[in-house]
Amino acid sequence: MVAMDAAPDPKPINRSALRQALGRFVTGVTVVTALDKGGAPVGLTVNSFNSVSLDPPLILWSIDRRGSFYQAFAEAERFAVNVLGAGQRQLAKKFAGAPLGRFDGVAFDDGVAGIPLLKDCIAWFECRTRTRVDGGDHLILVGEVEKFAQNPGQELLFFAGQYGVATTL
Ligand SMILES: Cc1cc2nc3c(=O)[nH]c(=O)nc-3n(C[C@H](O)[C@H](O)[C@H](O)COP(=O)(O)O)c2cc1C
Repeated sequence: MVAMDAAPDPKPINRSALRQALGRFVTGVTVVTALDKGGAPVGLTVNSFNSVSLDPPLILWSIDRRGSFYQAFAEAERFAVNVLGAGQRQLAKKFAGAPLGRFDGVAFDDGVAGIPLLKDCIAWFECRTRTRVDGGDHLILVGEVEKFAQNPGQELLFFAGQYGVATTL
């Protein structure tokens, strides 16, 4: 009997090269907000947001399991996705920086169940958490949109580790 050659193992993934390649995919920038168990506002900058379904109206994003607010978002019944405009780069940096005091000096309204809706965003999606899916070192949260709104204004983009704006062709 002739032994079959085993298929060669694929090359191990180089994580920093993968991260760089993924950065070639241009995204918008959002701040996802919720209330923790004690009712305090929590939020972080997120570019993993995407649309999923119109019927029912579903969106998703993913949260790093090692992040300070992982527990709060993993348990939250509701959250809001605040889509940032081109003039809101400082908010994106603030909500990706030091975890304490992220809402200090930030203007917001209370949405459904008191969840913060950041002022002057270009769109908002108020969601009820519908499904939590294992996503490796992240948890994927699928939300059902209960309310949404939008404002005119240019979108803030993120790609290759930098912020930018779009021009139409
Ligand atoms: C443009 C951008 C997009 C990000 N997208 C995500 C994301 O989708 N999910 C996530 O968990 N963290 C994301 N982060 C990281 C968090 O915003 C940030 O690292 C985190 O809140 C740091 O604080 P913590 O670890 O103390 O919570 C992103 C950061 C930036 C700058």
